[in-house]
Formats: sequence, structure tokens, C-alpha cells
Amino acid sequence: MINLKTEREIEIIRANGRILAKTLELLGEKIKPGVKTKELDRLAEGFIRREGAYPAFKGYRGYPASICISIDNEVVHGIPGERMIEEGQLVSVDIGVFKDNYYADGAFTFAVGRVSNQAQRLIQITQEALKRGLEFVREGEFLSDISYAIQSFVEKNGFSVVRDLVGHGIGINMHEEPQIPNFGPSGQGPILKKGMVLAIEPMVNAGSFEIETKEDNWTIVTKDDSLSAHFEHTVAVTENGAMILTDGDPSGKVKSFR
Ligand code: MF3
Ligand code: CO
Repeated sequence: MINLKTEREIEIIRANGRILAKTLELLGEKIKPGVKTKELDRLAEGFIRREGAYPAFKGYRGYPASICISIDNEVVHGIPGERMIEEGQLVSVDIGVFKDNYYADGAFTFAVGRVSNQAQRLIQITQEALKRGLEFVREGEFLSDISYAIQSFVEKNGFSVVRDLVGHGIGINMHEEPQIPNFGPSGQGPILKKGMVLAIEPMVNAGSFEIETKEDNWTIVTKDDSLSAHFEHTVAVTENGAMILTDGDPSGKVKSFR
């Protein structure tokens, strides 16, 4: 069953999404060569808690940190630790914010200093793929039109989308129905309805779409060691388009992409 949210519920998720956006902004200033990933985790946790919220990933299925930091060939779920950020890296940060009984979920991939042309292009294509998906977030559209838009854009540009991990509904739980694959045919249900809140999150690999889990049982890496990028927004479906809840825009304006 897909939970429809009231305007009040969406307002709460948007408030949490603003905290999330501010946390990402703060991390964007701090992600520099020499910084340990656990320092970034501490910073994010402190900021989120000072806002009266809780870092939703902490303790989720036993996850040991507050945020996920996934570098280069790491796709998602990298655990912050002693590792230092280095020039030229591609650093994906995934954050969950919980407050007033609702979740917001978002991710962004940062380039550290000068990165390879391939890394730069991967970031750009992944971010654009998310935008292409968001064009189909509107009451009356097929859910899988989002998936198809993401996959076709990514593959047209020579990269691949991860198949084993998907986006999801979100609200009173971090993961709710429906699942939102970043691949698949267009024109498949369910039909989007006003009040659905969705976390859309393309994970894009420079090489093959295949992934594996490292010995820490969390970190997901590309099987062929190619680079990977990840962007995620939590959005609400409206009659006029997507209301992006995790971009920190206080106006809550509906983005009409078409
Ligand atoms: N951000 C992930 C998602 O979108 C969840 C992270 S789970 C954690 O579904 F345990 F790693 F925190
Ligand atoms: Co998510």
C-alpha cells in the first residue's frame, strides 16, 4: 500500500529536508584533502542534532555511523572512519534526517579539487539523470516513466545504472512502498498520485552495473572497480510536478520541468 501524505505531513518532511540540505552544504565546505571521513560524520551528526533532529541512518539495521560516505568505486553505504579525503576523489554523501516522526533522505556527490574528465562527466550525468527522472514526478504519470527516463539518459551517455538498489517511498518509515528502480520499461504502474512522497536516487557506474558488498558487510562497491556517483532527492508528487523537499528551498515551490 502506498501511503499518501497530507500537506501537513509534507511540510514536516520539507522542514527535515532543509536540515538535510544544510548539512550537505556544510559538508561541501569541509570535504577537502586531509579530512578524515569520521570527522565529516561527527560534523554532520552534531549539526543535525543541534537542529533538534536525529541522523536517521545511525543504528538503522545496526549501521554504525550517522551518514554514509562512499568514495570513488564505492557506490553507497560507505562507513566513515580513519580514511582521509584526497584530491581527485569522488565523494558521495548520503544522509537521512528524522524529526517529528518523519524521514527525509538525500544524497550528493562531490568532486574533490580537480578530478578526471570521466569523474566529472559521471557526476554531471548522474545529477542530470535524477533531474530527468523528476520530470515524470507528477500526478497521473506512470511510476516507471521515472525509471525509464533515468536509465535511458544514463545509458545514452555510456554509463550504467545499478540494478540491485532502488529508490523508495518515504514518510513515517525511511523505506515505504513503492520501490523505484532506476531502470526498466516505461508505462508501468502504479500511477502517481498527489501526496505520494518518493526518494529517487540514481546510482550510476562508469563501467558495468554490477556491484558487490565488502567485508564490512555495508560498503557496496562496483565489481569492476569503476567509479560510481549517487544523487538523491525526497520529493512530493503534486498535480503540477515535483515538490523537491531536500533542496533547502524554503518556498516549497513546485518544479514544473515540462
Ligand atoms: N540512504 C539509504 C537509502 O536511501 C539508506 C541507508 S541505510 C544505512 O535507502 F544503513 F546505510 F544507513
Ligand atoms: Co534512499
